[in-house]
Amino acid sequence: MVTSMNTDIEGGSADLSHLHPAAQRIARLPDEERLRYVRADRWIGYTRATAALEQLDTLFSWPTKQRMPNLLLIGPTNNGKSMIIEKFRRAHPPITHEDREEIPVLVMQMPSDPSVTRFYTALLAALGAPMRSRYRLADLEQLVLRLLRAASVRVLVIDELHNVLGGRGDSRREFLNLLRFLGNELRIPLVGAGIRDAYLAIRADDQLENRFAPLTLPRWEPDEDACSLLASFAASFPLRRPSPIANPEMASYLLTRSEGTIGELAHLLTDAAVAAIESGEEAITQRALLLAPYEGPFERELT
Ligand SMILES: Nc1ncnc2c1ncn2[C@@H]1O[C@H](COP(=O)(O)OP(=O)(O)OP(=O)(O)O)[C@@H](O)[C@H]1O
Ligand SMILES: [Mg+2]
Repeated sequence: MVTSMNTDIEGGSADLSHLHPAAQRIARLPDEERLRYVRADRWIGYTRATAALEQLDTLFSWPTKQRMPNLLLIGPTNNGKSMIIEKFRRAHPPITHEDREEIPVLVMQMPSDPSVTRFYTALLAALGAPMRSRYRLADLEQLVLRLLRAASVRVLVIDELHNVLGGRGDSRREFLNLLRFLGNELRIPLVGAGIRDAYLAIRADDQLENRFAPLTLPRWEPDEDACSLLASFAASFPLRRPSPIANPEMASYLLTRSEGTIGELAHLLTDAAVAAIESGEEAITQRALLLAPYEGPFERELT
């Protein structure tokens, strides 16, 4: 039965209307290619992600003012912060001019053991200008400012901002001063992303607090948004039968297993989609979900 269904589909006559057009094309291909597509990264524009991107674009086109607004993207680990930032960066890619590289959106990661020197070193690396010699801090600072201006950076994004908390009290304060200094000097919006600790760190500074608008990506609950996210996942895996996962019962089951983050959910669904192809089930069903080798963060911790 499975074989005749496959033949049908490769002949192009099967109904694939439950899939997005791109997934429909892939669904007609042999298993090997379908598996590769299932395992690849995908972008789903769920409501909060789309809202975050809109806010980022608003910041991007903000007129230069004395005081620029900043944004703080806060959420648990594995919940889509870096994906949103990457999507934003790609929407404003670098432009190569004859004499220089223009980098409209510069993304850097806060080093895990932060010192001001390390921060500037990471910033230089993100600018594609790795440090060759040792600089005095004041010179390093001037160099960074000059290069940021030369690259016409319009938004500076600092991912893993919670790492400022890794430092001692003094170094944390030094960082908060540094962020304020950069914002004032460059007059560009700063965007931070991190877990809740990043928000607590910023809140500890009165001046920064009212300049950083927090935008949260909370853990997923089995509500309407989750059902629509599941519907998008279901429509993007090239399976030949519809997956009945976009309902509150399945949302509740899937989010419990994946502990409510989109990263774990994507992992679980990917495993189930692979099982669905390999077993001939061709849909994310209870059976495919039982066949999926996925273990949630809690189970992984136990083993
Ligand atoms: N918009 C999206 N569409 C589809 N999958 C997504 C999306 N956002 C995130 N994911 C999935 O979640 C995973 C984790 O996302 P991401 O790396 O952005 O998390 P994070 O919040 O930055 O986590 P951390 O705090 O650990 O850095 C991704 O690898 C991807 O599988
Ligand atoms: Mg991240």
